[in-house]
Amino acid sequence: MSELSQILSKHEFSKAEIEILLLLRGEEQKQLFKASEDKKAGTVGKKTYFRGLIEFSNICHKNCLYCGIRGGNKHVNRYLLHQESVMEAVEFAWKNKYASIVLQSGEREDEEFIDYLNELLQKIRKLSDGKMGITLSVGEQKDEVYKKWFELGANRYLLRIEASNRAIYEKWHPNNPAHSYERRINCLKSLQQNGYQVGTGVMIGAPFQTVSDLADDLLFFKHFDIDMVGMGPYIEHHETPMIAFTQNLPSLKERFQSSLNMIAVLRLMMPDINIAASTAMQAIDPLGRERAIKIGANVIMPNISPSINRKDYLLYQNKPCTDEGAEECLDCLVSRIDLAGDEIAWDETGDSFHFRKKKKE
Ligand code: 5AD
Ligand code: SF4
Ligand code: FES
Repeated sequence: MSELSQILSKHEFSKAEIEILLLLRGEEQKQLFKASEDKKAGTVGKKTYFRGLIEFSNICHKNCLYCGIRGGNKHVNRYLLHQESVMEAVEFAWKNKYASIVLQSGEREDEEFIDYLNELLQKIRKLSDGKMGITLSVGEQKDEVYKKWFELGANRYLLRIEASNRAIYEKWHPNNPAHSYERRINCLKSLQQNGYQVGTGVMIGAPFQTVSDLADDLLFFKHFDIDMVGMGPYIEHHETPMIAFTQNLPSLKERFQSSLNMIAVLRLMMPDINIAASTAMQAIDPLGRERAIKIGANVIMPNISPSINRKDYLLYQNKPCTDEGAEECLDCLVSRIDLAGDEIAWDETGDSFHFRKKKKE
């Protein structure tokens, strides 16, 4: 057996083995993809779950160095959607059998924002009789706030660790306003304790990051016993401070390849979790998301935000779907998933198998 076949036949990988897998290209990379594709088919199945993504506000009080809508970017036209507009998008998702939505925004912890979500969650629960899967992705909040939103029907939460290495995390996130690695970790713990299915993730190919860090990121997901992961390539945005570090970065194509390998290796390491095909992958390769689905991802987040605000939610350059509407993204993705050889799990909330298994134990 070749060294690679030997590694791929294992149930657990050492850090050194993960690094080898992340660096594979060409024929050997195809061998990795074949293994992760088979693993997906044999565990979560050849099925893709849809989550309607609603980017309801781009107002953000944080200042992440890489992000286009960071509070410090004065060129952004800031918005908070009227609740009626959000509910129209929710109705669209419900009518089209998405069964699950993601409410995403910049980060705010003020009372007005918390009340806004309190109200919204109640409306969504009423509309779907509590049957709709609701994921929140609104950053770091107090434990009591996470608790309240869970009571009001939110059952999943996405909070990317961005970089599991503290030193890198601190380089990407200035402490102005307050932004600490420790709090991010504590928030992830608080979400788990409050009963959420917890998703996290990282950016791939960003400044200061090495393949050793990426291997540690995968091990972090495993040790944290995470239920869902969304990760994708770092893509520059010209109005951010991180643009200054572009010169020494891997090419966009290379970041894309690393992202595919990260997904494939993670599927082998954690076969029963949900893994999203990130939109950022499509910003680099027109077939990016379906390639991710083919080799191991099983969740896609069609944008169902109202078209008028899409251009204001520009986290990075070339973000796809900013000229499209919910209907167009739906039709587009239906044919794309078909191309990837998966079936779409209409009307299924698509809980993480991993989470369900944990709950039974
Ligand atoms: N490139 C890629 N991903 C980005 N995000 C923010 N800015 C960028 C960028 N420039 C990601 C972060 C965040 C998610 C909402 O978007 O990982 O968690
Ligand atoms: Fe705000 Fe999130 Fe962007 Fe950071 S990544 S600046 S928290 S929207
Ligand atoms: Fe939006 Fe293809 S998913 S246009």
